[in-house]
Amino acid sequence: MAVPPDCDSIDCAFQVPFVHRLRFTNDVLGADRDVLADLLEQSGEKPARVQFWLDEHILKAQPDIRERLTALVETYPERLQLAGNVQIVPGGEAVKNDIHIVERMLKVFNAHDLDRRSYVVVVGGGAVLDAVGFAAAIAHRGIRLVRLPTTVLAQDDSGVGVKNSVNLFDKKNWVGTFAVPWGVVNDAALLTTLPDRDFRCGFSEAVKVSLLKSPQVFDDLCRLAPRIAERDMQAAMPIIKASAKMHLDHITKGGDPFEALEARPLDFGHWSAHKLEVLSNFELRHGEAVAIGVAVDCVYSSLQHGLPEEDARRVLQCLDALGLSLDHPALHEPVDLFAGLEEFRQHLGGRLTVTMLRGIGDAIDVHEIDEVAMCEAIATVAEFVQSPGEEVVSRG
Ligand SMILES: NC(=O)c1ccc[n+]([C@@H]2O[C@H](COP(=O)([O-])OP(=O)(O)OC[C@H]3O[C@@H](n4cnc5c(N)ncnc54)[C@H](O)[C@@H]3O)[C@@H](O)[C@H]2O)c1
Ligand SMILES: [Zn+2]
Repeated sequence: MAVPPDCDSIDCAFQVPFVHRLRFTNDVLGADRDVLADLLEQSGEKPARVQFWLDEHILKAQPDIRERLTALVETYPERLQLAGNVQIVPGGEAVKNDIHIVERMLKVFNAHDLDRRSYVVVVGGGAVLDAVGFAAAIAHRGIRLVRLPTTVLAQDDSGVGVKNSVNLFDKKNWVGTFAVPWGVVNDAALLTTLPDRDFRCGFSEAVKVSLLKSPQVFDDLCRLAPRIAERDMQAAMPIIKASAKMHLDHITKGGDPFEALEARPLDFGHWSAHKLEVLSNFELRHGEAVAIGVAVDCVYSSLQHGLPEEDARRVLQCLDALGLSLDHPALHEPVDLFAGLEEFRQHLGGRLTVTMLRGIGDAIDVHEIDEVAMCEAIATVAEFVQSPGEEVVSRG
């Protein structure tokens, strides 16, 4: 249709270049401190201004960390300058459940005159990274954010992500932004005080992304799983690194960093995981719920989409060897779980799009779920828990 002469219509596609900086260190606050210092570029002649934000549980577990952070900046007086004391925030979901904490963060940024070339360096689990990252993203429309993730999940998955958020109206991640962090440093020493449960469950995201992207990394995971469960860092760190790189590649090269399209491949196994977290009253950790969700969708993929049965069995055995429980009472009430599918669709908008596997490293998007087959998949995972050595797929 012709545009009336007094109306204009201009569609102008444009691109904005971003740089995503990811570093791996063994002891970022000690021998490897140059790595962090080098990330904090000076602004002209003046030293870079740095404000630290710290997860309270890290401080409890590593009591000298506050002094070590301060000492790091003081080692480079010409290049770096502290902007106020190290700030402590609640750890875990508590930091995301009180919007007033975000307001407090903004007040502290303002009190120390942080500007768009200042650095907010946040040290903590995924929840603290999300909340501090959100405040940094909205202050001055974006202060430079450097993340030092302290959980496996945050190092192998969310730390390289471009999302920040807190919870509002009793809904998870309801308010947030997409913002590319200035830099991310995955440091092995920061993980040493993580409880076993949190250490192990972060690897479910590595299993997930390897199933989507890399049969080789999945093979490595199967081989190294018993050592990872024992917290052998020589086995764990290469997997964390491979997983973080695959997540980073997806964001930087996958063509949809800000999730405008209907498909969300990195959410493989997550439709049921999100629901399981809610049904368990958040007693299940995100990583634990993802392990169950990935197990269910792998068995379903073998029933409906051609994933070899043997591969589905290997996934369940790998998760089991990582020390992840695949059992939960909600698995025996699949109807409640199915509500998760509709919630998943609602969150994304548009039609239902769920990622499944035709093979390892061969993901597809599907728009319908066969409830009978899904019930069978859920029952199969529940049976596997009783006897992990048995066949997993038993379509009669
Ligand atoms: N932005 C994203 O893309 C994205 C993706 C996935 C998950 N998330 C969010 O991440 C959060 C979960 O993050 P998480 O799994 O890292 O857990 P978490 O941040 O809840 O941390 C788990 C617990 O361990 C403590 N802790 C963290 N590191 C520690 C250490 N080294 N030593 C001792 N204690 C330590 C924390 O204070 C907390 O109590 C959720 O809020 C989830 O919504 C965000
Ligand atoms: Zn996840």
